Amino acid sequence: MNVTGNTITLSAARHADLLVQGGIVMTPGGAERIDVACSQGRIVALGDLRGTWSAETTLDAKGLHVLPGVIDSQVHFREPGLMHKENLEAGTRGAVLGGVTAIFEMPNTTPLTLSAADLQAKLDAAQGRAWCDHAFYIGGSAVNAEQLAELENLPGCAGVKVFMGSSFGDLLADDDDVLRRILHHGRRRLAVHAEDEARLRERRHIALESADVRQHPVWRDVDSALMATERIVRLAAECGRRLHVLHVSTAEEMMFLAARKHRVTVEVTPHHLTLQAPECYERLGSLAQMNPPVREQRHQDALWQAIRDGVVDVIGSDHAPHTLQEKAKPYPQSPSGMTGVQTLLPVMLDHVHAGRLGLQRLVDLTSAGPARIFGIEGKGRIALGYDADFSIVDLRAQRVIHNDWIASVSGWTPYDGQAVTGWPIHTVVRGCCVVRDETLAGEPKGAVVRFLESWSNETRGESDA
Ligand code: DOR
Repeated sequence: MNVTGNTITLSAARHADLLVQGGIVMTPGGAERIDVACSQGRIVALGDLRGTWSAETTLDAKGLHVLPGVIDSQVHFREPGLMHKENLEAGTRGAVLGGVTAIFEMPNTTPLTLSAADLQAKLDAAQGRAWCDHAFYIGGSAVNAEQLAELENLPGCAGVKVFMGSSFGDLLADDDDVLRRILHHGRRRLAVHAEDEARLRERRHIALESADVRQHPVWRDVDSALMATERIVRLAAECGRRLHVLHVSTAEEMMFLAARKHRVTVEVTPHHLTLQAPECYERLGSLAQMNPPVREQRHQDALWQAIRDGVVDVIGSDHAPHTLQEKAKPYPQSPSGMTGVQTLLPVMLDHVHAGRLGLQRLVDLTSAGPARIFGIEGKGRIALGYDADFSIVDLRAQRVIHNDWIASVSGWTPYDGQAVTGWPIHTVVRGCCVVRDETLAGEPKGAVVRFLESWSNETRGESDA
């Protein structure tokens, strides 16, 4: 380590692979006008590096904010099996165009991701095709509960995901005994989609009889979500397991979870923070149909309050594409889900512009938060020795989001036509500038995300010596 004036470096060489110059850098200590030097994919120097460092590539970040790379810990990229909706190449391309540098992908593909072979098939498919770093969830179910302790520690596994209520695909674990078996096998934080399957079945007639998408939040009501959240939190406490409750959508759950934050972490999504019932269903029809549903204003207000109160740990997009043709089916045959990985950052920067949250809090929710709760190695902050992942944004840039900007195979966004202030300009993944001036650059070189909890001799890289 070398210290010169206000500059600390990990290298005496003074020649970097990449130099990010003149930007306002969001460090753990706040916003600082400093330069960042990166070598071999890591941050090697921070400070005023003008005149003292040279680099193979220099990125001029004047007038821009340099955020730690955004980590989207909930996406559905549909590969294998459902590639007419999405695939790993297009999904990760959308991610980096939207300023996202790492994703965790969900197990409700075809086949489901339930075994080591299923996970390996996804890792193989991502090799050389993924534009950003990636890891994959293993689905927790009755068929693999006893193997989960081993499976969750495989390289490239983000953890275990459980669907308590059916959403899309066949992955379901709704019975207390199965949930206990899942909770007892493994130590990592368990991610859960909390909607109560029995209540959803009991009330499905509401959707069927109405054939009206405005009834979606009536069918999948507050109690459907709250009952499942209460049940899984109780079971997790009984089994001594940490939980991560995905896409929390109700004021009632937030109140319940606020008192249990010592063990339970909380995700909210941009669509629950941005769209509102009933207006979104009237304007967008089934394009706004999502599980759990987008709800009325009072719930959205509670989600924002929970962001201000520190109850929310993470913002994940729940990018869940279906084709426009599939979405055009009459409700409730229309599948639930919308794209989101590419619009996560633009939509949230627009909320920053509107004063709904500060930039530092956004960084906490999209980088530091995922790194902390999933125990990600070397990501989530701009600090010496960390991966050189950056989402470099222009907070004043005004853009209109359009479907033709969306890289997803499904080709649409619920925000089509929406003007936003704040936009990703350059995306850097481990020192490679994969989006430069809003344009894709280079090759897909995404690597597998590493996790501290599954760190072992087997998963150790050479650079760890
Ligand atoms: O609306 C949803 N669609 N919510 C989910 O959690 C999953 C999903 C999907 O995979 O389509």
